[in-house]
Amino acid sequence: MPKTSVAFFETTAKEKKYLKKKFDKNFELFFFPEQLNASNAGLISNVNIVSPFIYSAIDSTVLNKAKKLKFIATRSTGFNHIDVKKAHENGVSVANVPYYGENTVAEHTFALILALSRNIHKAYVRTLRNDFTLTGLQGFDLKGKTLGVIGAGSIGVHVIKIAKGFGMKVIVHDPRPNHILPELLDFQYVSLEELLKNADIITLHCPYNTHTHHLINMDNIELVKKGALFINTARSGIIESRALYYAIENDIFGGAGLDVFEGEELVNEENQMLTKNVSVEHLEALLRKNLLLRKENVILTPHMAFDSVEAVERILDITVENIKAFLDGKNYQKVI
Ligand code: NAI
Repeated sequence: MPKTSVAFFETTAKEKKYLKKKFDKNFELFFFPEQLNASNAGLISNVNIVSPFIYSAIDSTVLNKAKKLKFIATRSTGFNHIDVKKAHENGVSVANVPYYGENTVAEHTFALILALSRNIHKAYVRTLRNDFTLTGLQGFDLKGKTLGVIGAGSIGVHVIKIAKGFGMKVIVHDPRPNHILPELLDFQYVSLEELLKNADIITLHCPYNTHTHHLINMDNIELVKKGALFINTARSGIIESRALYYAIENDIFGGAGLDVFEGEELVNEENQMLTKNVSVEHLEALLRKNLLLRKENVILTPHMAFDSVEAVERILDITVENIKAFLDGKNYQKVI
């Protein structure tokens, strides 16, 4: 029986090692660190399955050269780097990885909350200078505080569960309430206004779209409970930048933990950071431009909430499952 040939693009040595263990002798595997695009499409002229990451450009030129291609399993949630319509016209099916890191992003959310609530970032810098004094480092307990979760979907629900472990009260704003969850997880749905007024910590976990664009803005920022912490691991456009700066400047926000921030266009898709090929200079330039960095009660992280060993392994595992399910005629994470 002929072997199924699979070509992985944009792979690291670690990913190659991990993936090789997942396939038996019926597969012929090819690993390329580079991206797949029109200039090197010859590499896949005899390949049955291609697995790219998001920097590959699988357009009609590539697809027309891939005469034996049957399946594309992108190792990402986004699939705008693939001409899906053309792929389907050519009889090529496409799969992606829609979920992989709900708990991962929730854990990073708490990394930011705890860093701010206990001044870990300030203590770290201070002790590097061999200064072990306590002045200005006093934190506050999470126990008994109110966490306001905006968007209780996959990630938001994990955040609520962790908050309950800390003994926090949780209020949630979500236009699509779930009727079982509040009793199960012990939280209350409230309006956005009530959430802003009552939460000691506000954390965003809704998608960014036309409805959530500037959900928090100059018109409602004054409602925020004075000194509340603001955490954003979702998307920067959900809060109007002017309102964010205003709230920090005027002590409306007592602190902010931002994994996503204005000007991070380079890194605006969570998967992109996996390749680590965004130049440090570029990232630093972006960050330098950001006035928020000068604030000692603001912590920025470079859109890394998704990036844990386990989440990346889940991406690879789901990709392998997609490939095997396709070959076995079973259900996979199909892109339509
Ligand atoms: P999800 O789709 O499971 O949940 C989103 C929730 O937001 C849903 O319950 C929905 O009803 C709610 N929602 C929609 N509109 C809303 C509104 N106007 N106000 C309040 N809630 C609203 O999405 P999931 O998987 O929990 O992800 C949430 C977001 O997290 C993603 O859209 C993405 O932007 C971000 N994300 C960030 C990552 C990072 O590395 N920083 C990694 C993965 C996701």
